[in-house]
Amino acid sequence: MKRVLVHTFGCQMNAHDSRRIEEALSADGYEPTDLAEHADLIVLNTCSVREKAEHKLVSALGKLRPLKSDRPELRIVVAGCMASEHGPKLLDRLDLVDVMVGPDNIPELAGLVRKAQAGGRYAATALDEEPRFLTAEPRAQHPITGRPETSAYVTVMKGCDERCSYCIVPHTRGAEKYRPAHDIVREIASLVSGGVREITLLGQTVNSWHEPTRVTGADDEESQFPELLRRIAAEVPGLARLRYTSPHPRHLTLALIAAHAELPMLPAHVHMPVQSGSDRVLKRMIRRYRRDEYIERTNALKAGRPGLTLATDIIVGFPGETEDDFQQTLSLVDAVQFITVFGFKYSPRPHTPALKLEDDVPETVKSERLERLFTAVDVHQRRHLDALIGARAHVLFEGPSKSGAGKFQGRSERHEIVHVDAPDGVDLTGALLPVEITQANKRSLAGRLLDLPTAQQPVKRPMRLPVVTV
Ligand code: 5AD
Ligand code: SF4
Repeated sequence: MKRVLVHTFGCQMNAHDSRRIEEALSADGYEPTDLAEHADLIVLNTCSVREKAEHKLVSALGKLRPLKSDRPELRIVVAGCMASEHGPKLLDRLDLVDVMVGPDNIPELAGLVRKAQAGGRYAATALDEEPRFLTAEPRAQHPITGRPETSAYVTVMKGCDERCSYCIVPHTRGAEKYRPAHDIVREIASLVSGGVREITLLGQTVNSWHEPTRVTGADDEESQFPELLRRIAAEVPGLARLRYTSPHPRHLTLALIAAHAELPMLPAHVHMPVQSGSDRVLKRMIRRYRRDEYIERTNALKAGRPGLTLATDIIVGFPGETEDDFQQTLSLVDAVQFITVFGFKYSPRPHTPALKLEDDVPETVKSERLERLFTAVDVHQRRHLDALIGARAHVLFEGPSKSGAGKFQGRSERHEIVHVDAPDGVDLTGALLPVEITQANKRSLAGRLLDLPTAQQPVKRPMRLPVVTV
């Protein structure tokens, strides 16, 4: 049996693509490994959203050089956004790499690897004209950890038409392409019948989704994303949780807010990237909403679903960001009370409009603003976690905790990590159970089980089904 190691850099979309890469190669006789020394093939699934991500690829290749000198038959693949960003000419710069595939070229990968084994170097990096959405049947267990999988990603759209001035994604992933609802529902139903309990819908601007057959026109045309959520909830009632990432605040419509108030399957936590709290910066970022609109819409979301928490992405040190602009970001953090922030220092990227602006915020100021941002968010996170002591949460268990024997961990309806002690011999994986929160740790919670999995609430185990790639 040949072995492949797939290493993922970057976002959930890439994690999802890595799964598809493993599946495409498993149909060609490869089984996954997490040890480079055991691998016949190593795939580096890359990200290019910040320059640091590119450095990581170069450093990973540096570590693989001795391995390739020892075993010249080892083949190395660069997949993902860097392949799409640079195209085949990247092969000239990276002598260790045998094959390159862009995010849309996963179906070609196995064939190119076979050719490269016979000699030569190959690249397929063009974006699809006609979108292909790869689907998979559920797998019995994670091939490396051996644990059943309770969560899965399902792509509903790909690409991005937004053109935020700092972002390379419209270049690397192309224009928005939508997947038909019946196809999405079919994949979710199949995953759920195989034991998956939580689905995360994926898309670069996931909540702009509409049927691909709808003729797009005016910019402000409402998305059909809330209808998609309602259809999934109605047609796949066995699904415990339905998450989505990443939405754009522009498509946080009244209909989507209403869906959150009405559908218990949607979690009480939303990740809604805001990027900045200053209208001046938002305008220069071409985000197409104002600070007050963001606050108003997220307040409506919280009012419709009491207890709902918010997470966000923020870029510090965007060109021209003053101390006053940054103060506005801090005050937005307080106004919205984000409990988690993914914070990034602005990184100039090729093929982006912001490249024309001078990257004028010094590195030291960017670092200092990032620190202040995290400190501000920590206050809200601490207060939030402490306030949950004594409360009841509904926890979807993912598997054993690393924190000790007999302990299991899962996610609450809001997304906090919750650890509990399970009775001897009881495996909670995949169960959705009430828990009383007894302790708030630095970044997680601990609790006491209020119920056990029963016959009325079977813990479904995924069956082994053949992998299908379309
Ligand atoms: N510099 C820094 N952060 C960026 N992001 C996207 N492009 C850049 C960039 N050029 C961040 C945004 C986005 C997240 C995925 O990455 O916050 O939401
Ligand atoms: Fe990039 Fe903006 Fe599209 Fe998100 S919405 S992928 S930040 S261009």
